[in-house]
Amino acid sequence: MTFPAQRMRRMRRTEPLRALVRETALEPGDLIYPLFICPGKGVRNPVGSMPGVFNLSVDEAVREAEEAAQLGLGGVLLFGLPETKDDEGTGAWEENGIVQQALAALKQSPAAKKLVLIADVCLCEYTSHGHCGVVVKSGDGPDANFDVANDPTLEILARTAVSQAKAGADVVAPSDMMDGRVGAIRKALDAAGLAQTPILSYASKFASAFYGPFREAAGSAPQFGDRRSYQMDGANLREAMREIDLDIEEGADMILMKPAMPYLDVVRAARQRVEVPIGAYQVSGEYSMLHAAFEKGWLDPNRAMIESLLSIRRAGADFIVTYFAKEAAKLLR
Ligand code: PBG
Repeated sequence: MTFPAQRMRRMRRTEPLRALVRETALEPGDLIYPLFICPGKGVRNPVGSMPGVFNLSVDEAVREAEEAAQLGLGGVLLFGLPETKDDEGTGAWEENGIVQQALAALKQSPAAKKLVLIADVCLCEYTSHGHCGVVVKSGDGPDANFDVANDPTLEILARTAVSQAKAGADVVAPSDMMDGRVGAIRKALDAAGLAQTPILSYASKFASAFYGPFREAAGSAPQFGDRRSYQMDGANLREAMREIDLDIEEGADMILMKPAMPYLDVVRAARQRVEVPIGAYQVSGEYSMLHAAFEKGWLDPNRAMIESLLSIRRAGADFIVTYFAKEAAKLLR
């Protein structure tokens, strides 16, 4: 049957008809809101390249999380800006670390109980060199080589995850891209009596220009080199599938794909391949470029925001980490 008997426009005629046949749903509960926690009290420092995003002291972060809960968001993802940094990223796992403090405070808030508290497990915000692991130097002078050492980093990541879970994280989310870290974290959590703490692994994380604004927000730009020896090459889809398989084998309960919009094919391929819940991270650069166009009046903010999130859900993500979470939830309610 073809035209004129077949007319696709019949089902688009009214909003109730369109709503009836809409294939993909977007709900506040699908959205996770990232928070950047900094020292101090009453601090709300705006991040220049990310309008509407702030570095928040613990008390302000609690207020923000309570608003997120009221809006029906699914959870918050915590990043920390420590008072001081060192070569080994000690601030990531200290009992009184900045994220640990925030988790403890959030656990005290009855309103925030509705949220899943997710802690990002990585060292780049805590190391003086800004890399996601321990840096070893070989050679001297202009010929010196720097390498982010995989195996020595695992123990520090595992220690970080355990301390976050002890402080109150419902889920730990390693984003460092070291080999073997999911297994190392699972083993350490189990040994610490935290067998019930799930791991959301950033299984497929590409070395991306779209993380640029985040590094301003988290003060985590590498002081030398880049992350291409541990994050994936943007050209590789099959490699992403191997990363996912390995993380699930090592015990990942959920996986996170990142960035989202420039890698929707990867999200789709992952959805077709595995049964675990999949999240996608609409990263800082995706947020900032849309905001830049909003500020110029070139895109309609509300429509472009919802369309971008819907595209990620349609590709196959069950949930989305996004800086738009609060704004989107206000529209979706
Ligand atoms: C930590 C981490 C990064 C992001 C999430 N976790 C930065 C990076 O890898 O450089 C990026 C998030 C964003 O851009 O919004 N490794």
